[in-house]
Amino acid sequence: MKRALITGISGQDGSYLAEFLLSLSQPAYEVHGLVRRSSSLNRQRIDHLFKRDQDAHDRFHLHYADLADASSLSSLMEQLRPDEVYNLGAQSHVRVSFDQPLYTSDVVGLGTLRLLEAVRQLNRTQLVKFYQASSSEMFGSAPPPQGLDTPFHPRSPYACAKLYAHWQTVNYREAYGLFACSGILFNHESPRRGESFVTRKVTLGAARIKEGLQRKLVMGNLDAKRDWGFAGDYVRAMWMMLQQDEPGDYVVATGETHSVREFLEVAFSYLDLDYRDYVEFDPKYTRPSEVDVLLGDPIKAREVLGWRAEVDFPSLVQMMIEHDLELARREKYALGYQMV
Ligand code: NAP
Ligand code: GDD
Repeated sequence: MKRALITGISGQDGSYLAEFLLSLSQPAYEVHGLVRRSSSLNRQRIDHLFKRDQDAHDRFHLHYADLADASSLSSLMEQLRPDEVYNLGAQSHVRVSFDQPLYTSDVVGLGTLRLLEAVRQLNRTQLVKFYQASSSEMFGSAPPPQGLDTPFHPRSPYACAKLYAHWQTVNYREAYGLFACSGILFNHESPRRGESFVTRKVTLGAARIKEGLQRKLVMGNLDAKRDWGFAGDYVRAMWMMLQQDEPGDYVVATGETHSVREFLEVAFSYLDLDYRDYVEFDPKYTRPSEVDVLLGDPIKAREVLGWRAEVDFPSLVQMMIEHDLELARREKYALGYQMV
């Protein structure tokens, strides 16, 4: 039985990764997740993992700690002695990082260093493999396509902090021989995506408009282009990186790019709606410096890991729209029920 520790387990990727690891049998995994204390519970994405079969339930555990608190990280590491550590915890919203640059840098940048230090201490007595959730935002304004040889040019406090964390990961590998991998993942989405990221904002908004629960959708820059894949595919790549003989860095992407406008078109037309009748612009949703085009070159992930994205762009939009339409219908039904 292998033991994995996941930071950010309550987030989109953490929930898919935990689900994936618990589904493996050769080897089987015990999955430990780091959660922050909050005044109300925030476990919607992982609740179902406790309700699975008894065996999976017994192999799934949560612990209170915080990436801002080094002592909580080293205690947890010492207590659990994991074989694999996946660092997915982050203040992950790019726009918000302009409002909270210091907090974002602390959690995303220094938080990674705190965790790496805790891993390094443990690695003196046992092998601990480390995965860092790096981001295509680190490429920023570098012209597409972006691959492992593309020079980084970050455009937000979030991206700068991710770049710091990326280089710390590389340096811990080179300086201390740590089995540390940096996965430079391009945007990946799902029905579990946070509601303020653009894809989910669009699919939730379109579904609520279709059901008469909302009249318009207020958006920012529709010309930005992203390489969007499905989160469930991307967590497999994280695990694959840690199963290789040698640690390394990888770009994980679909190799296709689409604009926010195209996402709107496909999502609304799935519901027989024209997005132009509903979308309005508000500059508050733009960023002081934008990343115009992201398009990844995942050749190493394909050739070394044998990984490829299985869900294509139209299927991703459809999956998210169908999920959010069901949510909107339930919301409408609940409203009607209250009015009776
Ligand atoms: P997400 O849904 O925003 O989840 C972030 C997770 O980090 C949540 O579980 C959150 O906990 C946790 N967290 C925040 N601050 C923390 C702290 N101080 N200490 C411990 N945990 C903390 O993000 P995601 O989309 O799953 O992304 C996972 C990771 O991949 C992130 O590092 C993100 O930056 C990176 N990434 C994402 C993408 C993408 O397209 N999704 C692409 C490239 C890289 P709460 O639930 O308590 O808030
Ligand atoms: N969030 C948001 N809301 N974005 C909007 C809106 C809006 O109303 N209107 C237009 N956009 C544009 C943004 O300006 C950006 O160019 C694009 O939509 C995508 O925005 P997000 O979905 O917020 O994602 P992101 O690309 O900034 O960051 C995500 O992907 C990164 C990987 O490239 C996050 O998941 C990051 O954590 C991740 O590292």
